[in-house]
Amino acid sequence: MARVVVLVLDVSQRPPQSHKLMNFLTSEQALADFAVLIKYIKQSIPGAQNSSVIAFGGSYGGMLAGWLRMKYPNVVIGALAASAPIWQFTGITPCENFNMVINKAFSQDIPECAENIRKSWQIIDTIAETVDGRQFISTTFQLCKPLSHSDVTDFKSWLTSAWTDLSMVNYPYPANFLEPLPAWPVKAVCSKLSLPLEGKQLIENLSEAVKVYFNYTGQAECLNISQQATSDLGDLGWDYQSCTEMVMPICSDGINDIFEPSPWNFTSYNETCYHTWKTVPRQDWISTQYWGKNLQTASNIIFSNGDLDPWMSGGVTQSPSQSIVPIIISQGAHHLDLRAANPLDPQSVIDARNSEKNIFKMWLGQVKNKS
Ligand SMILES: *[C@@H]1O[C@H](CO)[C@@H](O)[C@H](O)[C@H]1NC(C)=O
Ligand SMILES: *[C@@H]1O[C@H](CO)[C@@H](O)[C@H](O)[C@H]1NC(C)=O
Ligand SMILES: *[C@@H]1O[C@H](CO)[C@@H](O)[C@H](O)[C@H]1NC(C)=O
Ligand SMILES: *[C@@H]1O[C@H](CO)[C@@H](O)[C@H](O)[C@H]1NC(C)=O
Ligand SMILES: *[C@@H]1O[C@H](CO)[C@@H](O)[C@H](O)[C@H]1NC(C)=O
Ligand SMILES: *[C@@H]1O[C@H](CO)[C@@H](O)[C@H](O)[C@H]1NC(C)=O
Repeated sequence: MARVVVLVLDVSQRPPQSHKLMNFLTSEQALADFAVLIKYIKQSIPGAQNSSVIAFGGSYGGMLAGWLRMKYPNVVIGALAASAPIWQFTGITPCENFNMVINKAFSQDIPECAENIRKSWQIIDTIAETVDGRQFISTTFQLCKPLSHSDVTDFKSWLTSAWTDLSMVNYPYPANFLEPLPAWPVKAVCSKLSLPLEGKQLIENLSEAVKVYFNYTGQAECLNISQQATSDLGDLGWDYQSCTEMVMPICSDGINDIFEPSPWNFTSYNETCYHTWKTVPRQDWISTQYWGKNLQTASNIIFSNGDLDPWMSGGVTQSPSQSIVPIIISQGAHHLDLRAANPLDPQSVIDARNSEKNIFKMWLGQVKNKS
């Protein structure tokens, strides 16, 4: 029997060292590279020539895995696209859906938790108006650098990114994907925001809550608001891609989500991209290149989604064709199914992995019967 070659697509891409090479950082190039690499591996490994290949990937890697099957069905017999938001694009998914999932993650156990975060923005603004208030915030949060009036917006974006990332990595056991975290970190955060809080008391508990994210190890000397929540993800490359092809509209209204109202504004997005990268993002390209919602003629792709993961908002959750299989993992965070098995795994992810294995076997059987 032919050997099965498993190819795991990386979740992130690092930008090339030279500016001149940035134009190779596209999803099309990545797919072509994988296709050529797979052909090469099959030719160069003795006995692998006739092996079937299934692509695996999570997050952006999941998008690539799904698209690899769509664009190169001659190279991979199928794909597992885990937490792959291939529909988080203009005109396909409403921009508010992403943050509504975060709201769900932060309100499901303790509704006051979401409520406290939702009202924190206004309280931060009010307290940060005075020198004393800013001093209070700096001391309470143990900020590396005292907060100045012009830092308040950055301070709020830093909190926003922490809450967002927490909901992505809300795993059922201690993990270290973006930061070292306890089991069910959103629950740990919400235990600090469990009753209605006001004013300085809210600020104090907010700081306890955010320290679950930034100081779970107890090693943080101070909190640095210029440090992105995901410092080692190689997301500079992603930032460039989001300013070329990967324009994913996300917005908030402050009512159905825990954030300040922030409409999607392509004009300003476009300006920021030009300012940062001298690129003009093509907001409609992905839905042209990768078929938008019209996946009827695609085949053999599993799209798995965690129902607590904000990226499920742009995921494929309903089957557009017989061999496109959506799986929804209840209480699942970002590509939980691709993580190693753990005794604390919920039954939902055990079931998802079993379904995935059975589907792979079916695809392999189909190939065998044909040859
Ligand atoms: C692959 O399949 C071809 C055609 O069936 C056959 O000639 C060749 O020997 C096979 N290679 C391997 C390594 O099994
Ligand atoms: C506020 O934080 C303190 C210290 O962590 C905690 O004991 C208290 O329960 C928190 N209050 C709420 C309402 O969660
Ligand atoms: C991090 O936690 C340790 C241990 O509890 C504490 O001593 C330190 O002050 C904390 N640092 C910050 C920035 O919260
Ligand atoms: C805060 O983070 C920024 C960006 O990574 C870095 O340049 C700066 O040195 C850090 N400040 C402290 C006090 O760690
Ligand atoms: C985007 O920015 C480019 C370059 O500054 C400009 O030419 C173009 O008109 C802008 N498009 C939109 C829709 O704002
Ligand atoms: C969108 O951003 C542009 C450029 O920053 C600004 O002029 C415009 O008022 C914004 N539109 C809305 C609806 O906020």
